[in-house]
Amino acid sequence: MPTVKKSNGVGRVFLIGFSGSGKSTVGPLLAQKLGYSFIDTDESVARKERMSIPEIFAEKGERYFRRLEEAAIRAAVAKSRRAVISLGGGALLRSNVRRLVQQEGTVVYLSCSAREVHRRLQTATDRPLLLNKGPRSERIAALVTARRPIYVRVADVIVSTTRHTPKVVAATIISKLGRLADAH
Ligand code: S3P
Repeated sequence: MPTVKKSNGVGRVFLIGFSGSGKSTVGPLLAQKLGYSFIDTDESVARKERMSIPEIFAEKGERYFRRLEEAAIRAAVAKSRRAVISLGGGALLRSNVRRLVQQEGTVVYLSCSAREVHRRLQTATDRPLLLNKGPRSERIAALVTARRPIYVRVADVIVSTTRHTPKVVAATIISKLGRLADAH
C-alpha cells in the first residue's frame, strides 16, 4: 500500500472536480483502500448549519456558503493527517482554499465530461447552482469550461471518471499516488 506523500510529508488527499464527477462515491472507496477516514465537506457544512445546501444558498446566499465551506475544509485539515477530503465543486473559487489544499496534501482532480455530468445530474434537485438557471446542459457546459483550468492548475493528479466505475477510478488513483510518492 503506497503512503501518500508530498515533499511536506502530509498524507491527506483532497478530491476536487465538478458536481457529479464522482467525489462522494469514489471518496469512501479510496479512503477504505488507504485506511484513511473520509470527510465530505458539503456534509460537514450541512450538519453544522442544520440546513441542506440548497436551503443555505436560498436563505443565506452563496457568499455565506463559501465562507462556511472554507471553514469546514480548514476543520477537516485540522482533524486528520490521514484523510480523504472531498470538496464541493466550487470550493477552489477561493484563493485561500486553493493555497490550503496545495500546502496540506495531494490534490486529485476527478475529471468528467460536461455531457456525462449532465447525464448523471439530469434530475438532481440538490445542486443550487443548476436550479432555475436556464437549460441545464448549457449551464453545466459553461461552468465546467470556466472551472476546468482551475482544477487542472491546482491538481497533482488527474483521473478521468467519464467512462469508469468508482472502483476502477479508486484503483487508478491509488496507483498514480504510489508513483507520485515514489518520485519524492
Ligand atoms: C457547488 C457544488 C456542490 C455544493 C454547492 C456548490 C458548486 O458540491 O458545494 O452546491 O459551486 O459547484 P458537489 O460538487 O459535491 O456537488
